[in-house]
Amino acid sequence: MISAQNLVKRFNGRPAVDGVSFDIPRGQIVGFLGPNGAGKTTTMRLLTAYLTADEGRAELAGINVAEDPLSVRRRLGYLPEDNPLYGDLEVTDCLDFVARLRGLSDPAARAERVKAAVRSCGLRQEVGSRVGELSKGFRQRLGLAAAIVHDPEILILDEPTSGLDPNQVQEVRDLIRRLGGAKTVLLSTHILSEVTATCDRVIIISAGKIVADGTPRELEAGVSDRNRLQIELKGPPEQIEPALAALPGALLALRREAGFIV
Ligand SMILES: Nc1ncnc2c1ncn2[C@@H]1O[C@H](COP(=O)(O)OP(=O)(O)OP(=O)(O)O)[C@@H](O)[C@H]1O
Ligand SMILES: [Mg+2]
Repeated sequence: MISAQNLVKRFNGRPAVDGVSFDIPRGQIVGFLGPNGAGKTTTMRLLTAYLTADEGRAELAGINVAEDPLSVRRRLGYLPEDNPLYGDLEVTDCLDFVARLRGLSDPAARAERVKAAVRSCGLRQEVGSRVGELSKGFRQRLGLAAAIVHDPEILILDEPTSGLDPNQVQEVRDLIRRLGGAKTVLLSTHILSEVTATCDRVIIISAGKIVADGTPRELEAGVSDRNRLQIELKGPPEQIEPALAALPGALLALRREAGFIV
């Protein structure tokens, strides 16, 4: 359902995505994991026709993204990293607007879909609010609702749980799990526990290249097969993580509940 074949994207001559290939079959939930600047968002923008690849080919549901971006977008729900929404609209009006843009022309069917998206994203308490007044977490939920309102087959979600409180994270994970099976999902994250909780498969990207691809269990087993070095570090995890990722030879630093895998 989602196919990337040797995708390359350069900015100012420097590759942000450097020969990325993968195939995601129908119904699979895939976590796209990597440190800041690894190329997750750029890959997703190539897959969703928001950027044009310099080399390679992207296909969604068998449709070439560069050749027929409109057909692709109709089948696709995309939650972009910056989650752009119209601040002056009321929540359900905003979803209605997005549904109309997605080609749902029948008002009754549209109202049904808006209601379903509000319900599944836990937005009922915010009906009547202006988008610009929403807290960050509810704004993120609205972004998700906007991504699923037209009931697309494929979901591409760029950091869907960023900015959510722990309860909301759990709810969004449950929602994504519920959607999986019927839909094909690619979601990006920095958090390993997120992919273990939600995903059937993990693709890890570092410096624009795919460095691992497998089930969460396989990847964890791969890590434990290598030589381990246990060191004690003092400092806030937010500072330790980038420092470890910047070590020469480190692919990336993954934060676990009780430590880091480098
Ligand atoms: N529009 C742009 N112009 C120039 N460089 C860009 C642009 N978009 C991305 N880049 C560069 O491409 C690289 C990959 O960025 P990208 O946003 O894809 O990473 P990411 O994995 O999504 O990171 P994060 O976890 O921080 O969201 C970075 O070095 C970034 O600076
Ligand atoms: Mg990103």
